[in-house]
Amino acid sequence: MLLIVHHTQFGATAQLARAAIEGARGAGAVEVRARLAHEAGVEDMLAARGYLIGTSENFGGIAGMVKDFLERVYYPCEGRIEGRPWSAFVCASNDGAGAMTGLERIAAGLRLRKVHPGFIYRSGVVAQRHEVPASALAQARDLGATLAAGLDAGLY
Ligand SMILES: Cc1cc2nc3c(=O)[nH]c(=O)nc-3n(C[C@H](O)[C@H](O)[C@H](O)COP(=O)(O)O)c2cc1C
Repeated sequence: MLLIVHHTQFGATAQLARAAIEGARGAGAVEVRARLAHEAGVEDMLAARGYLIGTSENFGGIAGMVKDFLERVYYPCEGRIEGRPWSAFVCASNDGAGAMTGLERIAAGLRLRKVHPGFIYRSGVVAQRHEVPASALAQARDLGATLAAGLDAGLY
């Protein structure tokens, strides 16, 4: 099972997550479980064979709700999910690097393997609803599809 977890406040990360879920579901036989960060927990983490995390960048780091999810699952999962593949997409106004680096640090602590660099979508707008362009949605679709196909093929 591929677990796709995200949080959104203004809808942009949700648009990317929907595209990633669609890409993953179309790519192979692997089950895709989509969860909002506040709904996701330890059982989801342990049951998954791979992870895709979607977050906005807030205050130069991971969105609070995604951080809350990671804080809840970190110690119960430590030592139990080592080596599993993961990647992420970050939705930002003009940066996004801090959120991606934050995710990488936490994933390194859990000894997960980043098997795809993921991507940062920079919208140029702050805290506003907007339509995410097709190019970014395509990136999200490809990312979901790559992870699902890799799991399906036993690559990771
Ligand atoms: C409290 C707050 C802090 C933010 N901090 C950053 C930031 O540090 N860097 C950045 O590029 N964008 C920042 N943004 C912009 C968000 O990343 C952007 O609005 C994003 O689209 C939100 O994702 P969402 O539409 O899924 O809620 C911030 C937005 C909010 C509301």
